[in-house]
Amino acid sequence: MTILDYQNSSLPVAKRVSDLLFRMTIEEKIGQMLQVSYNQVTPTEAEEWVTGKFAGSFLHVLGDNARHLQELSESTLLGIPILFGIDAIHGHALNTRATVFPSQLAMACSWNEALVEEAGRITAKEVTADGLHWTFSPLLCIGRDLRWGRIDETFGEDPYLIGVLASAIIKGYQGKSLSDPDSILACAKHFLSYGESTGGRDSYDSEVSIRSIRAIFLPPFQKAVEAGCATFMAGYQSIDGTPMSANSKILRGILKDEIGFKGFVVTDWNNVGSLITYQHVAADMKDAARKAILAGNDMIMNTNAFYDAAVQLVKEGVVPESTIDESVKRILTVKFELGLFDQKRRTQVTVSKTVLNCPEHQDKNLQITRESMVLLKNEHHTLPMGKDLQKIAVIGPNADDIQAQFGDWTFFSHPDPNPTAVPLASYYTMLTGVKQLAEKRGIEVLYDKGCDVMDSSIQNIDAAVALAAKADRIIAVIGDCLAQNGEIKDRADLSLSGAQPLLIKRLKELGKPLIVVLVNGKPLAIPEVAEGADAILETFNSGAMGGLAAAEILFGEASPSGKLSISFPYHSGQLPVYYNQLPGWHTPGKYMDMPESPLYSFGYGLTYTSFAYSNLKLSQSRCSDGDKIRVQVDVTNTGAVDGMETVQLYVQDRVSSVVTPVKQLKGFKKVAIAKGETQTVELPLAISDLYIVTPEEEYIVEPGEFTIMAGSSSRDQDLLKTTLVVE
Ligand code: NOJ
Repeated sequence: MTILDYQNSSLPVAKRVSDLLFRMTIEEKIGQMLQVSYNQVTPTEAEEWVTGKFAGSFLHVLGDNARHLQELSESTLLGIPILFGIDAIHGHALNTRATVFPSQLAMACSWNEALVEEAGRITAKEVTADGLHWTFSPLLCIGRDLRWGRIDETFGEDPYLIGVLASAIIKGYQGKSLSDPDSILACAKHFLSYGESTGGRDSYDSEVSIRSIRAIFLPPFQKAVEAGCATFMAGYQSIDGTPMSANSKILRGILKDEIGFKGFVVTDWNNVGSLITYQHVAADMKDAARKAILAGNDMIMNTNAFYDAAVQLVKEGVVPESTIDESVKRILTVKFELGLFDQKRRTQVTVSKTVLNCPEHQDKNLQITRESMVLLKNEHHTLPMGKDLQKIAVIGPNADDIQAQFGDWTFFSHPDPNPTAVPLASYYTMLTGVKQLAEKRGIEVLYDKGCDVMDSSIQNIDAAVALAAKADRIIAVIGDCLAQNGEIKDRADLSLSGAQPLLIKRLKELGKPLIVVLVNGKPLAIPEVAEGADAILETFNSGAMGGLAAAEILFGEASPSGKLSISFPYHSGQLPVYYNQLPGWHTPGKYMDMPESPLYSFGYGLTYTSFAYSNLKLSQSRCSDGDKIRVQVDVTNTGAVDGMETVQLYVQDRVSSVVTPVKQLKGFKKVAIAKGETQTVELPLAISDLYIVTPEEEYIVEPGEFTIMAGSSSRDQDLLKTTLVVE
């Protein structure tokens, strides 16, 4: 049998792509650009999309169904393999047997890029064991408007931290080489500034300027390109009136031409249809398809009518075939690089049973989960809990609610809501975690749910309070629920919902040590909890090991080391509260009726020890663009136990031609420091990172003085300061 050039694995990818492209009809080419959503079509229609229209990709198809479609694709004339995508957002969590990691927001609080990379690696192993090739992750939107329903999916509010952690997880997903059988494609989404949609309402117009795009929203995506991210996803929303999937300035201009992205762009879900139905910039499907192709979208997610429209557009000469070729080349290149033409990357039922949530993955998950939790308050040495206890009361709606704990993007919510789904991998709720460690110590655990998260009925509160009255310690587990987080689940009011405020008030009145464990998708406005609780542990959506990790911290088997990746407001009306704002005249931006600072600030988090900072030094105090300097600071563990500290480096441009943020994170390092020990922590700073974006959209470093700050959080009182002069 003759081997055609594109089938010959010893030839370079570019040669194989051009050989294959040369053999393809226009229908086969457009088919490659289509991504069909498996649960939106019947099984027979799915087969027809493969055999009759050569669909290049499917999303949300698992197991034997994926294997069957792949076998069908092999029976077509050219046998171009299908690329299977899935939302493996915090673990391969649409599969009931897989490892469920903490949400991106929670993982970001670990400030531990090595662990975030491991989470990506494990996810890739579990996804490939299921015969799939591509995750729509990570999300690089910036979490600034906390009303937005997808804050849980972000790495928090800071572009630098997001860029570092996104690069780490991309490395984890894509492994050493895309062609390794356990590597998957990453997808940087949602390009660009999707999180800024008006009023925090999902998919509305993003009110951003071109300067803020360049200074704030683009840099994390630029890092994703540098990390070799194979795919990008265009957001739903418009920017200044132009929907992302019709935005050639951003997709073609900035992403492909300017920052040199070589992979392919997939639209978000039915973006092309929405150009007609919601955004009203296209009159019909042909108009929408033309706009989408010309703007630079390469693969079209779940707009099946795109196929006929695009074929006609090329046949009528409205869209040049060469433009289609550009997109198809990008898609085929990735398929070749992934090794899809040379290896059968199929569902491996037996392998998947041993790989999914195996003990090694559970251990790593536990490690990152521990480091993701943030101790927000700890008065009167409430934590860790002593050994002298007889009874602990665990009270609250989120104490034993694995759906609230998992958060969005698991089999409970996707691809279709399934609240009765049963996790087949092991997991710990807060209650089961506390019980396990309490039992070892001979402590009795009492439990009552107390109330619901969203229902304001108070009828069960008396019983819960009566039970709590019998205990020496109360652990109240409160927060939000799955119905309050996710796409189109934006909230105008971030205060504690349902009967939870009353539950906390009544528990506080008992006068016993009150520990609050927060299980929530995103920061809530909870000044009353901050005031009333003796200790607060923020766990966000902590995944399968959440209960065990929290219990270890509560009992002192582990010391908390997380730092907030996002700031907490006192009140929804105080938003935005992100730390790196531009200064105004009425500094520091105080409302008449609200404290001037956030309730809890970016970078903040307590441990069971204390750290003192001293001796902030620069390797040189005068420098010029192109230099790299070293910032050094001594950190002493002044407490009685060992601990981990995340040393943060911020800068401020003192005088510049445009207004610049009050401070910006430019580096960090997480270090373990034994009690009594002092470590000199060194952080590199590239002078080119001190750039501003001019009104002409240029990136320049202006000479002058910069304040260099190092310390334990973004709060002024936690930072040492010195001066750097750029000549
Ligand atoms: C829509 C979401 O916005 C996106 O993040 C996700 O990857 C796709 N749907 C596919 O499920």
